[in-house]
This record gives sequence, structure tokens and C-alpha cells, in this order.
Amino acid sequence: MENQDLMQKIVSLAKRRGFVFQGSEIYGGLAGTYDYGPLGTLLKNNIKDSWLRKFVHSRTDMYLLDAAILMNQNVWKATGHVDHFSDPLTEDLKTNKRYRADNLIEDNGFSALGLTPADMTEFIKEKNILSPDGNKLGEVRQFNMMLQTKVGASEDSAATSYLRPETAQGIFVNFKNVLDSMNPKMPFGIAQIGKAFRNEITPRDFIFRLRELEQMEIEYFVKPSEWEKNFEYWRDEILEWMESVGLDMKKVHDVEIGDGDRAHYSARTIDFEFEYPFGQKELYGLAYRGDYDLSKHADASGQKLQYVDQGEEGSEVFVPHVIEPSFGLDRTVLALLVSSYKEDNMGDEPRVYLSLDPKIAPYKIAVSPLLKNKPELVEKSKNLFGKLKSEFGNVVFDDNGNIGKRYRRQDEIGTPFCVVVDFESLEDESVTVRHRDSGEQERVKIEEILNYFKAKFT
Ligand code: GAP
Repeated sequence: MENQDLMQKIVSLAKRRGFVFQGSEIYGGLAGTYDYGPLGTLLKNNIKDSWLRKFVHSRTDMYLLDAAILMNQNVWKATGHVDHFSDPLTEDLKTNKRYRADNLIEDNGFSALGLTPADMTEFIKEKNILSPDGNKLGEVRQFNMMLQTKVGASEDSAATSYLRPETAQGIFVNFKNVLDSMNPKMPFGIAQIGKAFRNEITPRDFIFRLRELEQMEIEYFVKPSEWEKNFEYWRDEILEWMESVGLDMKKVHDVEIGDGDRAHYSARTIDFEFEYPFGQKELYGLAYRGDYDLSKHADASGQKLQYVDQGEEGSEVFVPHVIEPSFGLDRTVLALLVSSYKEDNMGDEPRVYLSLDPKIAPYKIAVSPLLKNKPELVEKSKNLFGKLKSEFGNVVFDDNGNIGKRYRRQDEIGTPFCVVVDFESLEDESVTVRHRDSGEQERVKIEEILNYFKAKFT
């Protein structure tokens, strides 16, 4: 399948089946915003649950946080975001439309890695790169991506605030609160899932580059001398989780980011890139932030942001260094859709299915009566549905259309199992369980069905 086709098919399926809708669609949309529909929300929640289970609940060294999106503007002055959180912008000299200069360079088949805005201006001239409308481009300059707002009734500059561009800073400014309230032992991490906002110059590629996005981030605090081994450890942890949720690992590449291309706070970064239909691009990042953030906030706020290690030979006081695994939730949804979208023929008919892992699929099981006008079948299937739903939560009752159509519909949204109550069930207290990927069917006793699925979902 052509990559462009695949992307169109994914976008269309996502809308048609209630995964992802354009933001504010009935008013013509708002660029860079998308709304998650009923199935997309379930999918996103399952991803978050899996992330929390692996990185928080199964560990003893991780603390959760849910910090405010609006923060004192001094947070962003101290970290350098006000001065440095920017992308290179260039303007079409005829239409005045604005573009990301590095994207235009890449779209023309060149690499923009390591180029400063001045270098890009030169490069664009030298290679005669034009805007998508075929016009000359202006000088490249930095454009700050933070979304500004005013807090309260006052209009003066003291009221300026920013919608956070990363969830990370909520963690750093609460470092002391977590230390004082939880007394964690080194090394430890603080994890947070939440929205972040970036005024991207050109949001594009569906939910890949958004202006409102969701991140799952960990700031892992370590002794300065131990950062390297922790960096390697987190690289492995990230890859393990990616595989466990069903990302196509053949499409995943970890890329060391060079000196000129890292974020201003990072001394080492690995990007986990994914082969999307529109190219190989960032999915997640792993950064060594050193003591950059804690030191900047300590200087700017006058607070001591340090750790006191009470060892046997006395106490050691130091500013912890930070390893940061950062996951974009929307990009995870996209990469999972790309990884799981499949077309094949079943029973001589073409079909589309999402081969999502059962723990990630929006619905784990669909329950049906073979015929919806037979009260005995309907009653039995509703009883079974109630039992399965109260045990597994995301279970759906589906009696629309004939059984073949129901299978196709559930395949298309990735439901791994369909359970059908038929006439035989009335005799032998068994049901048919149909497997999504292979289409195989087996009979399972109703009294064994809970254990049967428990084994599948663990
Ligand atoms: N705290 C570190 C940080 O924010 P980042 O590489 O700028 O690092 C982390 O962002 C992750 O957030 C990315 O790897 C990506 O998954 C996601 N992300 C960043 N910008 C995004 C955007 N405009 N739209 C969707 N996801 C985005």
C-alpha cells in the first residue's frame, strides 16, 4: 500500500469509527487541534493505564503528580523557554504565509540538522528553495512557540502567563514539595501525564504535530556520578514498553541527537523515531537534563532545590541530575494505528482490521446474540455481557446487522474477541469465541469464560 494511501485510510477510519475528530469541526476546525471520540478516548486511556502500570504502579521509586497547566511566568523565564523555546520561521514574500524553515528544507530532500537560522537563510537562497506556492522566501528568524495568555482581570505584563509547553516544569517546581512530603530515597522519579501547548508554526500530519498535545513524562533524579548508567537503563525501559503496547518495532529507530540540534537544556538526547507514512520522525525523547532545571529554579526562586543523602559516613548534599523519558500520547495513538492497520481477505471478502494488543484495544470483547429477534438468545447474551463488562470494563454489546457484518465492524476497530450466543448455547452452556486476527472460532463453556479471558488479558 502506498504511504499516502495508508495515511488517508487511517485518518478516514479514525473519523468514521469515532477515534479522532477535527477540533471545532462544525466551525471549520482550529488548526493543530483534534478531539478524541468515544473509541479514541478509550484507546488513549488504555495507553495511559499501560504506561502507569509499567512506570509507576509496578515500581517503588516513582511518585505521581498532577500540576497546574498555568504557571507563574518566572518559571519560563528561569528555564530559558521565554528566550529559547522557538522554531525557525520563514515567510512567503508574496502571500505572507509562514512556514517552518527546517521543514521546508527537509521537504526539498535536504537535511537541516545543525543549521542556525542564518545558515538556513543562506541555504534556502543557495538551493533556490521556494514556498509551497512557488514564491521566494524571506529571512529565517526564531519564533517563540509558547502560547501566551493573561491571568485575572489585569492587562499589565505581570498578568502574563503561558500554557505550559511541556509537563516537565510542573515536576521541577514541585521537587521540594515531593521531597518534603514523601521523603524519597535516591534515585527516584516523578511522573506526570497531562496537556501541553505549543504554538506550532505549521501543525500538520494529522495528530503528529499539534498545538494542544498530551505528554507522559518522567523526571528521574539520580546522583550526578550515576547519570550514564541510568540513561542506558531508561533507554531499555522505553523500548520494552513500546514493544509491550504493540508498536511495530521494525519501524522504530533510536537516534543520537548531535550537539547543535538538542534542546537548550539537554546535554545528551536520544530520539526514538518512528517510520510514519509521511517519513521517519520523532515519537519519543530521552534526555539527560543534568542539573539544568533544578539549578535554574534554585537561582531564580531563592529556594534550595537539593537532596540531602544521609549516609553512614555523614550526610552528602547535592543537586540531583535528571534523566527524562518523554512520551507524546497523541503520537503514540498515531504510531499504534500505523502499526496495527491491516488489510486482508477473509472468506473471499476484503476486510480491514486493527491488530491492536488486547490491553490497548478500545473494546476487549464484543458480545452478540446470533439473532437479535430471538428473546432466549438475547437474554442469555445480555447476562453474559453484564458479567464480562463488570469484570473487564471495556466490553460492548453488538446486535446490529448480521453476524458477518458485526465481525467486520469489530475487526475495523480492533476488538480482539467476539463472543456469540447461538442456539447450541441454550443446550450446552457454551459460546463461540471468535479471534480477530485469524478469524478462528472456538467453543468455550460459559462457566469458564471469565478465567478464559483473564488469561488472555494478563
Ligand atoms: N520535556 C521534554 C519535551 O517536552 P520534546 O521532545 O519537545 O521534549 C516530548 O517533546 C514529546 O512530546 C515528543 O517526543 C513528542 O512525542 C511529543 N510532542 C512534542 N511536540 C508535539 C506536537 N507539537 N504535537 C504532538 N506531540 C508532540
